[in-house]
Amino acid sequence: MENLLSAASHETLPDSFVFPAEQRPPASSAAVALPVIDLSAPRDEVRRAILEAGKELGFFQVVNHGVPEQAVRDMEACCEEFFRLPAEDKAAFYSEDTDKPNRLFTSTTYGTGGERYWRDCLRLACSFPVAADAKNAWPDKPDGLREAMERFIAPTRALGMELLRLLCEGVGLRPDYFEGDLSAGDEVVNVNHYPPCPDPARTLGLPPHCDRNLITLLLQGSVAGLQVSYRGDWIRVQPVPGAFVVNFGHQLEIATNGLLKSVEHRAAANAAVPRTSVATFIMPTDDCLVAPAAELAAGGGGARYRAVTFREFMRVYKTVGARRESVEKAFKI
Ligand code: OGA
Ligand code: NI
Repeated sequence: MENLLSAASHETLPDSFVFPAEQRPPASSAAVALPVIDLSAPRDEVRRAILEAGKELGFFQVVNHGVPEQAVRDMEACCEEFFRLPAEDKAAFYSEDTDKPNRLFTSTTYGTGGERYWRDCLRLACSFPVAADAKNAWPDKPDGLREAMERFIAPTRALGMELLRLLCEGVGLRPDYFEGDLSAGDEVVNVNHYPPCPDPARTLGLPPHCDRNLITLLLQGSVAGLQVSYRGDWIRVQPVPGAFVVNFGHQLEIATNGLLKSVEHRAAANAAVPRTSVATFIMPTDDCLVAPAAELAAGGGGARYRAVTFREFMRVYKTVGARRESVEKAFKI
């Protein structure tokens, strides 16, 4: 708990947060707006747009996405408020046990060499639909957080499943390909909190990583910080308030035989203002065997990834680290 960044004030950057320069190459100076896709457009157009952006960048943003504005605003407000609570109200939730579905921790769980990242995280999990005991395991402070989470998670999951259907249609899989075990794992929400940092140029909020799940829906909030790898550079993603940033996890890359790639991204710290982002992850069940879809492997010259249960993927992922290269080495044929 004493590790928690949001429970202390830092006037200088402790050495454990400082990375050698080659591990934090600066982002290109221009902030880039990722493609913003209006989901209320005709379905053909939407399908084409997400496929194009997904193949080119692996990242895009969606607006008119069907998650009620109020649900987004309430979720963001409750999450920001959680990190403003006095330390004693957060203490009960703090845990370093990575097997705990709901917990508060600092830095990251990515296999790292002991270096620390400028980020606290509240992790919330639930099965779907939300069961009463799942809800009761979420923090009871601030008031309304549990209800906000409940009202947020259902339409956000529905959005994720709709995007998966559109992607299936785009790549030539049957629309319900990802329904069932491939998407029936716990729904996980990571509330990332990056307090103002005394020396943001010498550290990072999150290391370069690819997401381990199927598909990710991120609310960036109004403060920039997300950076996406693109042609050897890091591009800064300009926030579009109310939009979800969408990116593909490793499981979607494996299932589509590499047609849709999981792209590296990272989060920068900043000196001026706290930043809170809300990442929702859709993932397979632990026992689900994830393998390239036969119809895509056949057309793509054979399977390019080995079949692996999600549990085994996670076990290996924890040991090889989050970099794309090391994950590829472990799972590519
Ligand atoms: C994540 C992530 C980026 C951000 O939670 O996996 O990449 O901007 N977050 O907080
Ligand atoms: Ni991520």
